Amino acid sequence: MFGRSVGCCCNIVCCFCIFYNTILCSVLALLIFVFIFNPQEPKFTVTDASLTRFNFTNDNNTLHYNLALNITIRNPNRRVGIYYRRIQVIANYRKKRFAMVTLPSAPFYQGHKNTTILNHVLVEGQQLVVFGEQCDLSQFNLDTAAGVYSIDVKISLRVRARFGKIKTPDYGPSNINCNLKVPLSLSETLPSGFNATKCRNVHVLTNPSDYARI
Ligand SMILES: *[C@@H]1O[C@H](CO)[C@@H](O)[C@H](O)[C@H]1NC(C)=O
Ligand SMILES: *[C@@H]1O[C@H](CO)[C@@H](O)[C@H](O)[C@H]1NC(C)=O
Ligand SMILES: *[C@@H]1O[C@H](CO)[C@@H](O)[C@H](O)[C@H]1NC(C)=O
Ligand SMILES: *[C@@H]1O[C@H](CO)[C@@H](O)[C@H](O)[C@H]1NC(C)=O
Ligand SMILES: *[C@@H]1O[C@H](CO)[C@@H](O)[C@H](O)[C@H]1NC(C)=O
Repeated sequence: MFGRSVGCCCNIVCCFCIFYNTILCSVLALLIFVFIFNPQEPKFTVTDASLTRFNFTNDNNTLHYNLALNITIRNPNRRVGIYYRRIQVIANYRKKRFAMVTLPSAPFYQGHKNTTILNHVLVEGQQLVVFGEQCDLSQFNLDTAAGVYSIDVKISLRVRARFGKIKTPDYGPSNINCNLKVPLSLSETLPSGFNATKCRNVHVLTNPSDYARI
């Protein structure tokens, strides 16, 4: 009896995977990964931003926008590799979402201690947004007068992590906040005066909602 089960399964993890469903297996992999290998979160920085159009037309509530971003992702781990399965950039102004783009550069794998540069992520188009007269519109007008807009960019990710041969199931989606102050620039080629900005709330490999699934 004992001999037979050893013969059919090489190890406990393997048995587990065969006899239980993938959810249990995922949970096990996640637990091993998080509690034993203690991965560090990747670091996201918006190194450059250029806003060449940000016009709101009151008559038809339409925002025309043209934003380009350079984003750097650093994997600080010495032993953990990261698969970026999907990366979406969501742009909000005054908590109103006006754009979402899915980056064509994903999926890709990021090795240990490696830095990935996502250059010229384009967020452009037009969107119907409903601005409140009092707060939103007056802030928009203030920002327009100052020539700098507070644009909150969220980076939404689906990732997998790899330690040696172990590959975790999908994490996420997790949302990373990059609160940008982007000057309106007349030309894409002139330096815009944007200050490189680190993104906050990075819970990619230690996403609380992954524990919630357990
Ligand atoms: C955008 O707005 C600025 C000033 O508000 C105006 O000069 C410019 O012509 C507008 N551009 C477009 C494309 O609507
Ligand atoms: C909204 O109005 C502006 C200015 O009149 C125009 O350029 C734009 O095409 C309009 N957008 C839509 C969706 O009608
Ligand atoms: C980072 O990844 C790229 C692409 O996979 C690879 O060419 C490069 O050698 C890596 N750099 C380091 C420091 O591992
Ligand atoms: C991003 O990087 C590219 C290449 O280094 C550069 O040409 C561009 O001006 C940078 N900034 C933006 C906002 O695209
Ligand atoms: C960039 O940083 C400098 C110095 O802290 C500051 O004076 C400037 O207003 C900042 N620019 C933007 C666009 O936030």
